Amino acid sequence: MDQFGLDNYLKLEAKQQPTWDSDVLLGEVKQDLATQPPLVFAGEVDTLRNRIAAASRGEGFVLQGGDCAETFADATADRIRNRIKTVLQMAVVLMYGSSLPVVKMGRMAGQFAKPRSSDTETRGEVTLPAYRGDAVNGYEFTPESRVNDPYRLMQAYNTSASTLNLIRAFTTGGFADLREVHLWNKGFTDNPANKRYESIAQDIDRAMRFMDACGIDANELKSTEFFVSHEGLLFDYERPLTRLDSRSGEPYATSGHFIWIGERTRQLDGAHVDYFSRVRNPLGVKLGPTTSKQDVLDLIDKLDPNREPGRLTFISRMGAGKIRDELPRLIEAAQESGATPLWITDPMHGNGMTTANGYKSRRFDDVMDEVMGFFEVHRSMGTHPGGLHVELTGDDVAECLGGSEQIDEETLAERYESVCDPRLNHMQSLELAFLVAEQLVETSRK
Ligand code: PEP
Ligand code: CO
Repeated sequence: MDQFGLDNYLKLEAKQQPTWDSDVLLGEVKQDLATQPPLVFAGEVDTLRNRIAAASRGEGFVLQGGDCAETFADATADRIRNRIKTVLQMAVVLMYGSSLPVVKMGRMAGQFAKPRSSDTETRGEVTLPAYRGDAVNGYEFTPESRVNDPYRLMQAYNTSASTLNLIRAFTTGGFADLREVHLWNKGFTDNPANKRYESIAQDIDRAMRFMDACGIDANELKSTEFFVSHEGLLFDYERPLTRLDSRSGEPYATSGHFIWIGERTRQLDGAHVDYFSRVRNPLGVKLGPTTSKQDVLDLIDKLDPNREPGRLTFISRMGAGKIRDELPRLIEAAQESGATPLWITDPMHGNGMTTANGYKSRRFDDVMDEVMGFFEVHRSMGTHPGGLHVELTGDDVAECLGGSEQIDEETLAERYESVCDPRLNHMQSLELAFLVAEQLVETSRK
């Protein structure tokens, strides 16, 4: 019996689903996944919904960052720590600058599946199935690796579990203690963004010593909440991990705290919108430049019929040249509906380009410009610019062009590691955080 209609999606068109290599194995894996423990718990999910509700009232800011596509190979302690560190450093810059609580959320522990514009990829004479993320097939361009292997769903679960274990350890086991703000910057101190960070860290140190002297020893300063999120894409993964909460009896996606629906799968009559409308998690929806006012109204009615604060987040990804024109009417639509969604800017996905030497990249200047546009629109409308969604890594890669390190096309050839979209590196991420902090201050002055 499915009183919540969770399986209704089976009657609808589900875009971006892989054709698996073996139905028998798929059946076994789904059964196995359904018996595994949840990755996140309903109580945590409810806490996040409350945090997002506060942010949507202007009482907070959401920072969501991580890989475009996580990989099994990169789920190492060092790389996970570097990403957490980068998010923590950005959060410090934002909190220090704006005096707003910052909700930290990784694109982590579940971001293993990717929607693709084309089902196949051609290199020279060879055409193979497109890479759909490590939860589906391998990045290596060989027929064997590009097989859609259901067992990878189990690997995605296991890798998410070990990633989450490390996240929980790092954020509650002393590493995220505000007395350690200097440590997060170690090894990076000779570039401009990190120098600027260091001066904030000194101020925070002084404040911490002052509080020590006063005898204040608050737990909030020693650990931090950290939530995980991913695009809800693969039903063969999400359905077995959706569970009824033992207290409320309601369905929760236990694959991550926050689930977003991508630009390619947000059709109102499609399987994704229907499925996620039935779980209690806070939901995100990506909105690209072709989104109409009616789309926003319809999405609100379907995903947030009760106009529940914290339920819905719109993640706009318009492109630097479009955001100032396209975003205002979507905000107006939400206002007319009576909903109070959180508005987040994703300044990455509308600003893709390919360099002359063949790299998928983004210009840091375009990323900054879209962020500026986002703040300008919200200032002019009197609404709260509620968050930032970025693809980043804590490592010293060169994938996006520009920034104060002035990464150029030649450098991409030396330090490009992403298997999907280009990410901001550690320094570019910090630079962006400083810009956003300044914009938040500017907004609060108005
Ligand atoms: C992504 O976030 O990696 C992505 C594919 O985004 P969008 O759905 O906005 O294109
Ligand atoms: Co991406």
